[in-house]
Amino acid sequence: MDLEELSSTLSSIEGEYRGRSAAVASLHDLETLRSEFVSKKGKVALVYRQLGAMPAEMRPKAGELINALRERIEADIAAAAPALEEAARQERLAATAGDPSALVAGARRGAGRLHLVTRTRIQLEDIFVGMGFTVEEGPEVESEWYNFEALNIPKYHPARDGQDSFYLNLGEEDSMVLRTHTSPVQVRVMQNRELPIYAIMPGRVFRRDTADARHTVGFHQIEGLVVDKGITFGHLAGTIENFTREYFGPDITSRLRPAYFPFTEPSAEFEITCTICKGSGCRTCSHTGWIELGGCGMVHPNVFEAVGVDSEEYSGFAFGFGIDRLAQMRWEIPDMRVLTENDIRYLSSV
Ligand code: PHE
Repeated sequence: MDLEELSSTLSSIEGEYRGRSAAVASLHDLETLRSEFVSKKGKVALVYRQLGAMPAEMRPKAGELINALRERIEADIAAAAPALEEAARQERLAATAGDPSALVAGARRGAGRLHLVTRTRIQLEDIFVGMGFTVEEGPEVESEWYNFEALNIPKYHPARDGQDSFYLNLGEEDSMVLRTHTSPVQVRVMQNRELPIYAIMPGRVFRRDTADARHTVGFHQIEGLVVDKGITFGHLAGTIENFTREYFGPDITSRLRPAYFPFTEPSAEFEITCTICKGSGCRTCSHTGWIELGGCGMVHPNVFEAVGVDSEEYSGFAFGFGIDRLAQMRWEIPDMRVLTENDIRYLSSV
């Protein structure tokens, strides 16, 4: 190859470069061009490698020509970059408008979410607050009086059996328990709040159950309590039906069946349409079309007496059910133990 041939090779490379660079539309195109023309394995470098095959006296001039082309191309690329960078930035801004976190690499990856049970509790609170209820809380460690006695559960009642309750080694022997239900909060609310009362009381409860698909040892309940003049069983049924439809949607309805609780009279269990089969009957609901959710009834006069409410003037209803159980039905979770096992892969899927 002589100098003339070299010049024409170089000018054809340059011509090709000019043609291609006119079509560059992004930083990525520009980078491709840089790598094809002026990288270590680019077209210009390939010509440079042929230098060794040229007559020695030609080499300085040839080197100069090749270097000059490389510099021209590099300068051209450098000049094109800022405008393309700005265009890319504008595009990112437009794509992430209103969401600055998307600009921070990885900002979304570690973001957690509230546990399903917590989300369910918040939804329930929203529904009942919308119906005019207040939200109240009480302690998880209770005296026997609040957890049992004031609720008309006397000493010999089987619900007090050590099989169900965790007794604590605090104060007098067998006097303190981890609450076995949220009903003791009813008692506290009636003691501490002015009448009338329209309140819900969510919280953790504890039972010495063996964990299985439908039970865990620590779980959550939500209690409802209404005390006012002229409250009837009809108000109770209407409140439960209202909440069921708000939470599950119009396909799911509720019904009450006679039951027994020491602290309500009359008492009922409330059931909702089976969420799996929508009432037609399946294994989950033992082919009845209904699933039991919780207990309810009219506040027992003995409970009113324990907290000094005049049961001649006031009446009321109470209900209670498991929040975990409710979430299990709504999300069709086959085994409730997943809710306490802290497996992030599962928890982030519900
Ligand atoms: N406390 C009862 C339970 O844990 C539920 C209930 C609450 C029943 C209020 C009636 C009234 O099973």
